Amino acid sequence: MEAVPSSISVVPDRQGERVVVWGPGSLSNLGPGFDALGLCIQGLGDRVEAWRTETPGVALVEANGLPGSSIPCDPTTNTAAVAAAAVLRQAGARHGVALRLHKGLPSGSGLGSSAASAVAGAWAANLLLDEPLPREALVEAVLEGEAVASGSRHGDNVLPALFGGLVLVSASDPTCYRRIPLPGPLSIALILPRVEILTRTAREILPRQVTLQDAVHNASALAFLIDAFRAGDWETVGRWMMADRIVEPVRARLVPCYEPVRRAALSAGAFGCALTGSGPALFALARDEMHARQVLSAMREACLESGVDVEGHVTAVDFEGARQL
Ligand code: HSE
Repeated sequence: MEAVPSSISVVPDRQGERVVVWGPGSLSNLGPGFDALGLCIQGLGDRVEAWRTETPGVALVEANGLPGSSIPCDPTTNTAAVAAAAVLRQAGARHGVALRLHKGLPSGSGLGSSAASAVAGAWAANLLLDEPLPREALVEAVLEGEAVASGSRHGDNVLPALFGGLVLVSASDPTCYRRIPLPGPLSIALILPRVEILTRTAREILPRQVTLQDAVHNASALAFLIDAFRAGDWETVGRWMMADRIVEPVRARLVPCYEPVRRAALSAGAFGCALTGSGPALFALARDEMHARQVLSAMREACLESGVDVEGHVTAVDFEGARQL
């Protein structure tokens, strides 16, 4: 547990209502959808507890969670606090809020850890307004929270975490987005190899220029992928999810078990397997929960055989997004 340094550890008196909010984890990129496609997932996420203060602004009372995690405790660099402050500013609130952040997602995992905190912070601050803003009005605030953590205003984690489900977002203007309806449930096997990859670093190693051939290939792969998602054609989803030629091949080098895990997932019958976000987490799509468990076990084994410790989960799509608990 990491406590806020005393210089900024003002513990305001609780006034009135206390809210507890869930910011879900998310899978992003999904193959060729770099910075453009993300999926909200169940069971993994961050929690924020919040209450109003008389002093304007945001006080981060505590940020704790996973052992060994290094969560920024300065409210100007903590993603939950930055997103909450943006909501208060946007609403012209005269009061402030105090936040207690409970991390459930490890940072540098590829599971949208900073996005989960940003969304939970924004949602909590919003609930404490006299007149809460509609969900759509929080997009700017959560993007601001994401940017402070990762150095970029990409929306493919924060928007699925905010809205739930599958979200397509413009990579050049993340305030432009669309929820993509999914016609049925989807089972997901997810492994988290114990390797930390900071999004900032994983973005810096990407090529500045790509060939026209690869750009055109990726554009068509993303179009096929979206079409297959809408149709619930998981086999085709799996095929195009593995077709990225620009980003994933470069980042795969940061994950020692990448190839063996993908092979194991496919041999176990997964529709497809890819890195999520900047990794190292890898996910695979499966027919149903029982099949996802078999795929997960094959992926874990392959990871351990590569000498990398790992944790694994079976999850599904979260269609709800940020919510009060
Ligand atoms: N789209 C982002 C990336 C997700 O791949 O860098 C990580 O936050």
